[in-house]
Amino acid sequence: MNGVYKKYDKEVLRVDRLELLKGCIYGIIGPSGAGKSTLLRIINLLTPPTGGEVKYHGRPVAANGQERLALQRKMALVFQQTLLFKDSVFNNVAFGLKARGYSKSETEDRVSTLLEQIGMTELRNRRADTLSGGEAQRVAIARAVAFEPELLLLDEPTANLDPGNIEQIESMITGLAREKGITIIMVTHNVFQARRIAEQVMFVHQGRIVEIGATEKIFTEPEKESTRQFVEGRMVY
Ligand SMILES: Nc1ncnc2c1ncn2[C@@H]1O[C@H](COP(=O)(O)OP(=O)(O)OP(=O)(O)O)[C@@H](O)[C@H]1O
Ligand SMILES: [Mg+2]
Repeated sequence: MNGVYKKYDKEVLRVDRLELLKGCIYGIIGPSGAGKSTLLRIINLLTPPTGGEVKYHGRPVAANGQERLALQRKMALVFQQTLLFKDSVFNNVAFGLKARGYSKSETEDRVSTLLEQIGMTELRNRRADTLSGGEAQRVAIARAVAFEPELLLLDEPTANLDPGNIEQIESMITGLAREKGITIIMVTHNVFQARRIAEQVMFVHQGRIVEIGATEKIFTEPEKESTRQFVEGRMVY
């Protein structure tokens, strides 16, 4: 994207330039209100920028519905608290496949494989509204990736989950990037999590991408003082 900015009452985000590499896992860190979710929503084409250009595969996205919808169908967005449908675990995960016209047997295959990967085979017929928070979030991510999006956007997907669930979700995320070449962008409040799974880390502060770089570099030799303060847990705001 080029020269993208978003203004509500005041400007909340300004990104002069950002280019994402296919198959890479990005971590977005930064204090509350920095503009992290706004950036994700702009990438997802859910929120139109006030100005500037968002490009996919090198082409600017027209504001009109058709192209935007086609691109959105290749992306998936998962929030901290995703709403599942009041239906079985299986049908929740199968939802995106049915909507995209996959055959019954292909849907069965894919959903079964995913349920196995997230350790929920036994719970396939359980109603989603009876799941624990961690189970529900694993189902939400499985539903999001069932149709193999090109881009998976995660907004604090493991907030409030226990270490076991976090570990399972993290290994799901890294597996998706490695095995399927899915590009992943994850917002997290947990800098340790960003360090564990991201290949590239973006530090966002006051509506700006202060710094983006290889994860180890951001954590050990950042260019900017504010990045250093944030990753060392010293930034006060
Ligand atoms: N729809 C909106 N109308 C007005 N202001 C908004 C709107 N959405 C976001 N903002 C403002 O934009 C700024 C950035 O919000 P954003 O949700 O992107 O922050 P964030 O980095 O995701 O924060 P958090 O870590 O708390 O989730 C905040 O000051 C927020 O109040
Ligand atoms: Mg947010």
